[in-house]
Amino acid sequence: MYSKPVLKQLKPYAQGKQTDEIKTAYNLDRVVKLSSNENPYGYSEKVKEYFTTYIPDFNVYPDGYATQLRQTITDKLQINESQIVFGSGADEMIQTICRAFLSPEVNTVMAKPTFTQYKQGAVIEGATVKEIPTQNGYHDLDKMFQAIDDQTSIVWICSPDNPTGTFLERERLLAFLDQCPKNVLVVLDEAYYEFVSEAATYDTLSLLKTYDNLILLRTFSKAYGLAGLRIGYGLMHESIATKLNIVRGPFNTTKMSQDMAVIAFKDDQFVNDVISQNQYVKGEFQLFLDDIGWPYYDTETNFILVKTPMSGTEVFEYLIRNGFIVRPGEMLGYPDTVRITIGLESEMEELKKCLYKLHVQINKEV
Ligand SMILES: Cc1ncc(COP(=O)(O)O)c(C=O)c1O
Repeated sequence: MYSKPVLKQLKPYAQGKQTDEIKTAYNLDRVVKLSSNENPYGYSEKVKEYFTTYIPDFNVYPDGYATQLRQTITDKLQINESQIVFGSGADEMIQTICRAFLSPEVNTVMAKPTFTQYKQGAVIEGATVKEIPTQNGYHDLDKMFQAIDDQTSIVWICSPDNPTGTFLERERLLAFLDQCPKNVLVVLDEAYYEFVSEAATYDTLSLLKTYDNLILLRTFSKAYGLAGLRIGYGLMHESIATKLNIVRGPFNTTKMSQDMAVIAFKDDQFVNDVISQNQYVKGEFQLFLDDIGWPYYDTETNFILVKTPMSGTEVFEYLIRNGFIVRPGEMLGYPDTVRITIGLESEMEELKKCLYKLHVQINKEV
């Protein structure tokens, strides 16, 4: 059977281990999943309440234009209706962007390592991928700019970045956008944008007024806690949106995900609580890491990439035996690290105890 020859070089996305799988394999009663940067606080109570009386017409197709959700978002963000495209998560947006803007004739520039799906999508479309090594976990925007040539179609910027959590300062981003040729699409993946601290954050939405070649990617999966519903969106100039709307499936988001996202988007209190609690628990965890002398990358997200005194895979295996699932950095392009989602305060207290034991054990051996 014919398939794109390039598929022979690629593997399906290797997802983090599932909780039940680990419970059975390691004979554990309780497993804490800190591997996929999900929201440990769940999601808005208003969504839960709404859901109890919700009887959607599953027999009819959803509104492919997502009219109500579109209006809810445009009202709050004060942008034009034609500037939004929805996807089944930011993941599908990335796929759609690749499909629309990449082909074997062009190249695309991204950091190395960064979120894996940009490269996956680009390679499937046959585009040449130019990967620019990160500097201390930050995108090297100067080198990324230098990599742009006449055949460059897309530059991907993940800020805050996954897997490091680093966030690009406004001046650096603006300097890049100012230099970048206007015919090159810049995709700014802001999946974790809500988590950026008040001290560091700045308004990226207004950049759409100046840069017609910019897409901002956002999602309901992280701060809103709706990862299981699969809904995200891109904000962009109308001319780009038109192209993505040609490529995307006509009914690519479900009625249920649209309806729940409408409720979730209006519940600022829930998101604000999540953000402040994440900030607090993350700060406490950073203090603990400082105490045991394990360095970590700067992070403006709900996860942290920790430098480990042994391979990340060994730390991952130690933690999994103790009921914590994290991501070994070896899988993410950062050897000798683990990426840990910031969980609930109680979960992180348990994790600290567990890591402390490992720290003591290592020091005994030395
Ligand atoms: C940087 C980044 N972009 C996009 C996504 C995809 O998010 P979604 O759940 O909206 O598909 C993720 C998910 O982890 C991510 O980390």
